[in-house]
Amino acid sequence: MSKPIPLYIKREIYSSTELTGNYFVLRILDEELALKCKPGQFFELRAAKMETDCSLPKLFKPISIYDVTKVIISFLIKKRGSGTNSLSKSTTTDLLEMIGPLGNGFPIVSGRNVLLVSGGIGYPPLSYLYKELIAQNQIYWIHGGGGSNDVFPCNEVWTIDGSYGNKGMVTENLENILTEKKIDLIYSCGPIPMLKECFRKASKLNIEQYCSLEAYMACGIGSCYGCAVPIGKNDQWNYLRVCQEGPVFNAEEVLWNLL
Ligand SMILES: Cc1cc2nc3c(=O)[nH]c(=O)nc-3n(C[C@H](O)[C@H](O)[C@H](O)COP(=O)(O)OP(=O)(O)OC[C@H]3O[C@@H](n4cnc5c(N)ncnc54)[C@H](O)[C@@H]3O)c2cc1C
Ligand code: FES
Repeated sequence: MSKPIPLYIKREIYSSTELTGNYFVLRILDEELALKCKPGQFFELRAAKMETDCSLPKLFKPISIYDVTKVIISFLIKKRGSGTNSLSKSTTTDLLEMIGPLGNGFPIVSGRNVLLVSGGIGYPPLSYLYKELIAQNQIYWIHGGGGSNDVFPCNEVWTIDGSYGNKGMVTENLENILTEKKIDLIYSCGPIPMLKECFRKASKLNIEQYCSLEAYMACGIGSCYGCAVPIGKNDQWNYLRVCQEGPVFNAEEVLWNLL
């Protein structure tokens, strides 16, 4: 089935809420667009104010869908550089430029023992996925962040500085969790080293895994190949675009040693 063409639209920001630790949540109202969204997909976002304020960045920024209710689409964003900072300054009634929904999204399953593994800003797409999976699956969710400002609700938190939850990397106790919880499917999203480690440990137990890859994006719509990653098996592989064929890939098909 061919993918629907992503839309370019401008929408008023319905609300913008500051959270601790440089995070904020942007929400827009659009029932028709909400119906088109799937967990794991993302939008390219830009503050429309940049049309009149030349100091604002012109590049759109890829941001995952954090939540969808009947009429509201939400984004959980961490302020990092000029793009996300300009988004954080947009307030209610300011216009947001949006392209999307983009990418393929996670496969939705039922009757499985699922583990969600998120790191840092890998949390938002798994939050939306959790909502879609929870009625039909057993889910255990582990999340890792730098410190107490990078943690969100889940079953088990790991922080690098030990200021909240367990001290260390989120993948540290992975083997035990996989066995104890009888996990048969993993969804992961976060920094590449975390995804790699997750794959390395879980593949020894032949557990099915889907990961959402991070990549620097320019166009976000499949034209520039700036986000290409090596995907395939043995010598049958090619560069696929994270924004178009991804961001979600079967972890077994990612050529981790080339990333
Ligand atoms: C598919 C996808 C979904 C994403 N979803 C979210 C989300 O839901 N919430 C969120 O806060 N962020 C998300 N991101 C990351 C977000 O796009 C970047 O943080 C943002 O583009 C940074 O832009 P900036 O102009 O604020 O900072 P820049 O000035 O461009 O960069 C600031 C710092 O962030 C680093 N950085 C920038 N982009 C990336 C990237 N893609 N991967 C790793 N490091 C990066 C830079 O190296 C630099 O150190 C997502 C990225 C992708 C590819
Ligand atoms: S960002 Fe241009 S092809 Fe993916």
